[in-house]
Amino acid sequence: MRKHFFSGIQPSGRLHIGNYLGAIKQWIGLQDQYAPIFGIVDYHAITVPYEPGRMPMRVLDAAAAYLAAGVDPEKSILMVQSHVPEHTELAWVLNCLTPMGRLSRIPTFKDKVRQTPGQVSMGLFDYPVLMAADILLYKSEIVPVGEDQIPHLEFTREIARKFNTTFGDTFPEPAEVLGKGAKLLGLDGEFKMSKSLDNCIYLDDTDEELRKKIATAKTDPARKRRDDPGDPDICNIFSYHKIFSTEEEQSRCAEGCRTAGIGCVECKRILLERMIEMIAPLREKREEYLAEPDHIMEVLADGADRARAIARETMGEVRERMGLAPRER
Ligand code: TYM
Repeated sequence: MRKHFFSGIQPSGRLHIGNYLGAIKQWIGLQDQYAPIFGIVDYHAITVPYEPGRMPMRVLDAAAAYLAAGVDPEKSILMVQSHVPEHTELAWVLNCLTPMGRLSRIPTFKDKVRQTPGQVSMGLFDYPVLMAADILLYKSEIVPVGEDQIPHLEFTREIARKFNTTFGDTFPEPAEVLGKGAKLLGLDGEFKMSKSLDNCIYLDDTDEELRKKIATAKTDPARKRRDDPGDPDICNIFSYHKIFSTEEEQSRCAEGCRTAGIGCVECKRILLERMIEMIAPLREKREEYLAEPDHIMEVLADGADRARAIARETMGEVRERMGLAPRER
């Protein structure tokens, strides 16, 4: 039988190519070997201030993006986290094993406290525990994610170990699986691509928007004129080439940059072509799915039922191990 694993994305805004390369693209390749659960993690998205009126569209949008990228509801489960209450139930149990000091040292939490002081809720503090519950509920052995999620996976392994030593072997210790774009830099060439930094290429950007973004994106800062040789190893555009372009194009651009044989404009033109090749079909398919919201809602409802069947079983086991009174008749 194919094993399950869980991975997810927050419906907290437009999806960008970091989300695609760090997570979704990897998911697609794992659907034959595993029976994955792909979640739209709305309970995580409400740990920071958000607009309730926009949430339903964001959930639909994320589901459409998953489907457009190739998530196959026959092979995988596509669901909304809050539709499966066992996620928060297991999170409560794990809370009781989590030292508060451990959570306060998690780097993603410390970053958020710095970014939005005075807006730190219990939910935000508890974010990694809910994420550990998402993962452990399906006994995931692997979790395909971007590099920024590694501290959360480390925490998940710790809490799994703690549960196992306290109550008996129940959960595997899951390993992160990182793909080629596990840490995609933003258009500023400095920071991780992130909605909050406004440095993103979005999965629904039009060809024209892509053209404008690439045209103004940072390159090797030392290459001031066309005739100056540059260094591809410190050029953000070249870091994108390594992901989007063919080997032949990569060596042509690297060599051309070092010898000033080609300029940044030409190098960007080649990249843009490759990016459009990847993004345009995703955008078009996503729009086709979005034109049928009822179909998406059916897929999500079916996904919630299937996920719940697995989640209930794990929770039954957890309750038994913990000595909680059985609830099934
Ligand atoms: P979120 O919504 O912030 O990001 C979703 C996925 O996109 C990856 N990612 C990136 N990868 C490469 N380069 C980037 N610039 C980049 N930006 C984002 C993230 O690493 C992530 O894989 N906590 C998770 C959501 C979550 C989850 C889970 C994931 C909740 N429960 C259980 C896996 C398993 C998050 O914040 O994702």
